[in-house]
Amino acid sequence: MNHHHQFATLAVHAGEAPCKITGAIDTPIYQSTTFAAVDSDEMAALYSGEKPGYMYTRYGNPTVHALEEKIAALEGAEAGQAFATGMAAVSSSILAFVKAGDHVVAGRSLYGATYNFLNRKLPDMGASTTFVQSTRPEDFAKAIQPNTRLIYFETPSNPILEIIDIAALAEIARAHGIPSMMDNTFASPALQQPLKSGISVVVHAATKYLCGHGDAMGGATVGTREFIEHLNHDVLRDFGGVMSPFTAWLMLRGIRTLHVRMPVHCSNAQKVAEFLAQHPKVKRVNYPGLPAHPGHELARRQMKAFGAMMSFEVEGGYEGGKRVMDRVKIFFRAASLGDTRSLIVHSASTSHRAVPAEQRQAIGITDGLVRLSVGIEDAEDLIQDLDQALAG
Ligand SMILES: Cc1ncc(COP(=O)(O)O)c(C=O)c1O
Repeated sequence: MNHHHQFATLAVHAGEAPCKITGAIDTPIYQSTTFAAVDSDEMAALYSGEKPGYMYTRYGNPTVHALEEKIAALEGAEAGQAFATGMAAVSSSILAFVKAGDHVVAGRSLYGATYNFLNRKLPDMGASTTFVQSTRPEDFAKAIQPNTRLIYFETPSNPILEIIDIAALAEIARAHGIPSMMDNTFASPALQQPLKSGISVVVHAATKYLCGHGDAMGGATVGTREFIEHLNHDVLRDFGGVMSPFTAWLMLRGIRTLHVRMPVHCSNAQKVAEFLAQHPKVKRVNYPGLPAHPGHELARRQMKAFGAMMSFEVEGGYEGGKRVMDRVKIFFRAASLGDTRSLIVHSASTSHRAVPAEQRQAIGITDGLVRLSVGIEDAEDLIQDLDQALAG
């Protein structure tokens, strides 16, 4: 299996092969913490890195490695590293670049914990972040300082679905000799592959679309082999947030249908967004698939489809949003996203609680904003559910 195969073939096969001993076609769960060497010389060579192989599951595990290879193939990367959660991937990958005295230029609309990590944890360690208050590439360029060591952003962003020009940011970073890192969780590699547009490193909450079934937590980072080795040897071994072999097996199983799930997610979301956009009680719908969305044309250029995440504001502010949430019957009032099941959350009180209120207001995370992760149920059923929730 190599990177020349089409996405669907890679999703099914990359990183995996029948067992050489038994012929089992499914990747075994190597539920082992440690791996025995044939002699002390081999053991020393494994630890020094002279000899490739497994020695301890915090350093690497065959089941987890199969997943890393699969995700790397889907993103068009040389290599990948799996993590226990998306936040483990985000925090460890940022710390692979940033030390005391360093500076990060970041997008303004980010997952709440990522925002908090950049806004609170980095200053605790003597580093700092400038959040760019627009989606314009030239504003990212203007925020760069002599000590900037990383440009970090999400597109589409959580939860207001801002679209940022991936190739333009990659080019700004390259021109300044700074690495760029992008969280590709909302789109998944089925819809966009940022490394192919010049981004240096891509991070994922694999908990979401990659896993796809809402049953396992995980993270992943992909990039050059050199960077992934640095991340594994110099960061992850000390922080320790690795993925378990059983989780990797669940994720391998989930990813095999990523390319089948995503088109259904996206077509359902388009229909739901069009329904909400024409509803008299809905003030605003943030979905890049709507022509009125400010990032619509850019999203059309850089994404294969517009994804299945959206947020909207109903009349009546917080009370209005709360009423819709309390009345839905098919959507689950549940955090997370990328599940087969449709989910609804109130961003300001849940996923974006950690973002200061004034920053929430500034970027449009209003108290009435409700976020949807549109699942793969029947689109008409989902629309009817929202219709009855909005009525009355
Ligand atoms: C865009 C994005 N990045 C990262 C994360 C963090 O992932 P996890 O919850 O697996 O730590 C999330 C979680 O919602 C997310 O939405």
